[in-house]
Amino acid sequence: MPAEPSENSELHSSRWFAPDSLRGFGHRSRLKGMGYDDEDFRGKPVVAILNTWSDLNTCHSHFPERVKEVKRGILQRGGFPVEIPVMSLGEMMMKPTTMLYRNLLAMETEEVLRCHPIDAAVLMGGCDKTVPALLMGAISANRPAIFLPAGPMLRARWKDQTLGSGSDAWKYWDERRAGNLCDESWGQIENCIARSAGTCMTMGTASTMSAIAESLGFTLPGASSVPAVIAEHSRLAVATGRRAVEMALADLRPSSFLSPTSFDNSIVTSMAIGGSTNAIVHIIAMARRAGIELTLERFDELSRTTPVLANIRPAGKFLMEDFFDSGGLPALLKELGEHIDGTRQTVNGQTLAENISAAEVIDADIIRPLDNPISATGGTFVLRGNLAPSGCVIKPTAASPRLLDHTGPAVVFDDYARLKAKLNDPASGITGDSVLILRNAGPQGGPGFPEWGMLPIPDHLLKQGVRDLVRISDARMSGTSYGACVLHIAPEAAVGGPLGLVQTGDLIQLNVAERSLNLLVDDDELARRRAAWKPRPPRYTRGYGAMFLKHVTQADVGCDFDFLHHGDETPDPDIF
Ligand code: FES
Repeated sequence: MPAEPSENSELHSSRWFAPDSLRGFGHRSRLKGMGYDDEDFRGKPVVAILNTWSDLNTCHSHFPERVKEVKRGILQRGGFPVEIPVMSLGEMMMKPTTMLYRNLLAMETEEVLRCHPIDAAVLMGGCDKTVPALLMGAISANRPAIFLPAGPMLRARWKDQTLGSGSDAWKYWDERRAGNLCDESWGQIENCIARSAGTCMTMGTASTMSAIAESLGFTLPGASSVPAVIAEHSRLAVATGRRAVEMALADLRPSSFLSPTSFDNSIVTSMAIGGSTNAIVHIIAMARRAGIELTLERFDELSRTTPVLANIRPAGKFLMEDFFDSGGLPALLKELGEHIDGTRQTVNGQTLAENISAAEVIDADIIRPLDNPISATGGTFVLRGNLAPSGCVIKPTAASPRLLDHTGPAVVFDDYARLKAKLNDPASGITGDSVLILRNAGPQGGPGFPEWGMLPIPDHLLKQGVRDLVRISDARMSGTSYGACVLHIAPEAAVGGPLGLVQTGDLIQLNVAERSLNLLVDDDELARRRAAWKPRPPRYTRGYGAMFLKHVTQADVGCDFDFLHHGDETPDPDIF
């Protein structure tokens, strides 16, 4: 019997399923071979659920349940749900760093959306790099897409202490190295610090990037703050599925709601939540996928005028569950008032202002008012100077105030292996005034731009009570990390940046108020060192690693691949 014409030829997927052709027959007959009927898919929006679940992604262990709930929502609105597994970037298990693979997942997302009969997508992510990767791919594919954040873990408890994953792991590890924590206590912390499914429950990279996704308009209102394992998260998943079908029918694409204003909103959000320094790299990469040439200068401008309102670790005191109970991101965005431009449309068809109009702050210590911020200026500062001609970043709210204006002698480590081997060697001569330098840890040098920027403090200083030092690197650091860590030095040492010219004993001057970082060595001497500098051989000469080294850009422009920039539209596949 000849195929029935599709009931909705406006749908992208109808190009696959409607034609009375041999190919159309093939597409339909193979779905029928899976047990589907015309009733299931003919003329219905096909909604793909891009699922970043794996058994080795510890933060997404609830996704198998959530997928069922998303499908329920899609079916409720008359869509046809299809689940498509995509690369799962689990922060805790992948080596050398998930950042090596962010662009690979972004490429996979874009191509999966392009090559299949998909009318809209639900993007399921949360653990750090999954968020920017999915959004970068969706922006480039420019198909209707809505993001479902994994949601943070529940707050952890140990004895009478509330623990935050990441931040407290670093803190108690230092206490253990200082001899203040016995094996039994350390084991108890290991057993309880990750209390449930979900992403790190501090304002680490996962919570920061989910908040940014919401401020860009990619989620339902309030989605980014909902803890992973409460009933509201299940209802959010169902509602996200429903909305994806509506987006397919309305053909609501990222290009219809993203603009320079929405990226400004994302920067303001990132600053006001005291978000992860990693956000800068990811926001720039996402903006450039949308054809918006965002630079570090814009972050600097907005950081000077945006107060930090979220009192969440590591910059503050509370955890994400407290943030949610206090009104979550909608309440914070509303509190920001004119710092946020609410006129942009979001995935639910309403403007950001409409989405947050009913929000209220429940606890004004957790989400502070504008007249009582955690800090009057933004959570991440952009610094420049002769050590970072293309910029670098610091999170002053997570650093010891005494170190924000500091001049001290450098102790240089050429790579992380040398740092591990030498850090506790008394001959290294590290004191509380030293400035620790780690180089060859950037996008090319790492390679992959690992989170090594919170350099460990030597044991002998921990035993003396020292808990912070000025630390400078071309690496990133975890969003749950803290300390006077200057990160993302660009250009990095591996491509000839001045960080590669520093020698142990050189004086380094950091002045955060003046946004400056300088190497106090005269130009003639630096020129001599530059003439003697030689690049290290590449770590990878084949495979994905070699492609990464050939095409990754520097931190100040987002570390995307140079060939993935916004440009001429990539054609859809021909369907014969
Ligand atoms: Fe997945 Fe922290 S390890 S969000």
